[in-house]
Amino acid sequence: MSSAKPPRRLFITTALPYANGPFHIGHIMEYIQADIWVRHVRLQLTDADQLYFVCADDTHGAPIMLKAEAEGITPQALVARIAATRPQCLDGFLISFDHWHSTDSPENTELSCDIYQKLKARGLIYPKTIEQFYDPVKGMFLPDRYIKGECPKCGAKDQYGDACEHCSTVYNATELVNPYSTLSGAAPVLKTSEHYFFKLSDPQCLAFLREWTQNNRLQSEVSNKIREWLGDESGESKLVDWDISRDAPYFGIEIPDAPGKYFYVWLDAPIGYLASLKARLRQEGVALDDYLRDPGIEQYHFVGKDIIYFHTLFWPAVLKFAGDPYHVPDNVFVHGFITFSGEKMSKSRGTGISPELYLDLGLNPEWLRYYLAAKLNDRVEDLDFNPDDFVARVNSDMIGKYVNIASRTATFLKKYFDNRLGKRFAALPMAKETLQQANAISALYDKRQFSAAVRNIMELADKMNAYWDQQAPWTLAKRFDTLNDAEREALHDTCSVALEVFRLLTLYLKPILPKLASDAEHFLNIAPLNWREVTTTLPAGHTINDYTHLMSRIDPKQHIDRLLEMQAQKVSTPAPAAKSSTAPALPTIAIDDFAKVDLRVAKIVHAEAVEGSDKLLKLTLDIGEDTPRTVFAGIKNAYAPEQLIGRFTAAVTNLAPRKMKFGVSEGMVLAASGETPGIYLLQPDSGAQPGMKIK
Ligand code: 2FM
Ligand code: ZN
Repeated sequence: MSSAKPPRRLFITTALPYANGPFHIGHIMEYIQADIWVRHVRLQLTDADQLYFVCADDTHGAPIMLKAEAEGITPQALVARIAATRPQCLDGFLISFDHWHSTDSPENTELSCDIYQKLKARGLIYPKTIEQFYDPVKGMFLPDRYIKGECPKCGAKDQYGDACEHCSTVYNATELVNPYSTLSGAAPVLKTSEHYFFKLSDPQCLAFLREWTQNNRLQSEVSNKIREWLGDESGESKLVDWDISRDAPYFGIEIPDAPGKYFYVWLDAPIGYLASLKARLRQEGVALDDYLRDPGIEQYHFVGKDIIYFHTLFWPAVLKFAGDPYHVPDNVFVHGFITFSGEKMSKSRGTGISPELYLDLGLNPEWLRYYLAAKLNDRVEDLDFNPDDFVARVNSDMIGKYVNIASRTATFLKKYFDNRLGKRFAALPMAKETLQQANAISALYDKRQFSAAVRNIMELADKMNAYWDQQAPWTLAKRFDTLNDAEREALHDTCSVALEVFRLLTLYLKPILPKLASDAEHFLNIAPLNWREVTTTLPAGHTINDYTHLMSRIDPKQHIDRLLEMQAQKVSTPAPAAKSSTAPALPTIAIDDFAKVDLRVAKIVHAEAVEGSDKLLKLTLDIGEDTPRTVFAGIKNAYAPEQLIGRFTAAVTNLAPRKMKFGVSEGMVLAASGETPGIYLLQPDSGAQPGMKIK
């Protein structure tokens, strides 16, 4: 007895992009990969099934807080500005998300607190006092990326707090020699603070993760990597507990019952997947808890290879031990990076492709979708974007082979058969052979082996074109008026079978080329294609619509050269500053607050470069005192020292002296800067004298 299959319930995500900048091509590649898979699955679903494909902005953390501060706006304003740019790009590349949310949302706060409390109730959260670098000038604990100093091993200067770029030694920030904060230049001090930890080293976590990561669900490269992290079965766990809290000031979610402590961004970021789903489900009147409790849920995450640890260890363990109603992911699909002609894409060097520019210049999104599909597989390999290869695959394969079938056939059908199909074409071997591949192609999509699917589809297109050439319908057509019935029928069937093959190939390519498929469906005058009705052929005698141009070829000069030139220009001429950066930023202060700042006219009596610093100039300022003051200013890129000597400016003179790597700074000169590069020192009108008060 066969029982009906239970309905499918799929929940699919892509990694949440940080909300501090526009999408880069790596994001778009991931979205396209996931979107192709999602569209393929959707083409198999019935009305009883359900699929949610969601994402969100990853808004929290120190970098976003600091970037907003540097722009003089709130983190919320920065996040909102970036969020406003998302739809254009997502729609532009035909990414079919069901919902786009934000981790800075009530849903995420609620879910993060709930998950935290459940983990705590299970004894998996504990506090521990740790010692960390603190920037006394900035008044905040410093993440490693904001600490630099000399490598403890080789002495190389200006190395980050985790590893030396010169000799590759890995160390702790506390081991750096002469460390300094990249935020203020100040020497950081060690300070203790209580942090909260998730007990990843707990034996139950280890047992669970061993099982979850090593049972063939993950890609082999991924499970091998994880085996290194977990240690072998006999040995001790190599997993260390995870520090999930950060101290104020921090842009994030405040931890319940722990004022001044926030969830580390990587705790609440993946919870953002659920927050986005929750917001989407609310539109349907469905509660997230009820949804998640369905044992049939399939939860999949598409992510890049740089964030495997978070998604295959922390995230499954967090969900597993938070317990009801949460669902442990069914799989995590990992992809590599995208390179450009064999090199890492670099925004600053202007190499690679800006997705925004791609769309702005009117390049067809389906060219990129097709090209990426033709190269994507289920491995964690990097994918190289090569401009010549891009042009060749799109022009010769996608258009030259597939679109060509429709364009060359349409002319005959219209001219000789008034856009009507013949009667027996569906039984011809060419149609059958193309249909026979349906299951194989569908299976390749299921396994995310898109490049193999595309290869298979293009082979079918090749066969159809070869068949057409072999039939040479133009020879019969030339003497159309003299054809007997059998000949006429043969010509009619050749044209018709080409369109039946084109119909099948359109379905096969539909996850990759949704817009082209929809135009093709219109041309064929059929309802939207799906996998369930793959065997329903075009009906005998069916009338199609007039053919209209389906897709243009890439013109390497007009499209690619232009894209690359503009890209390079974009790097040398930055966009004008966004208006929003001039919006009111900080809370209002009283005049008394302002009066606390001792601002004076200063004369720069001497200026010199600081050896070993690429930012600082050492200034000697006359502010009307007996002895001039020394001030270090980060203006080396904007001014040559000799330009400044003798110049007047404004200075803050009652700042606490700041001990820097190069000496003590006894104040600060005032300069303006915006979103575009450039620093502009303030200067009083002529007549102002050193030491005059500015008020
Ligand atoms: O690496 C990143 O860009 C992160 N913003 C990805 C977060 S994915 C998920 F956990 F939210
Ligand atoms: Zn070193």
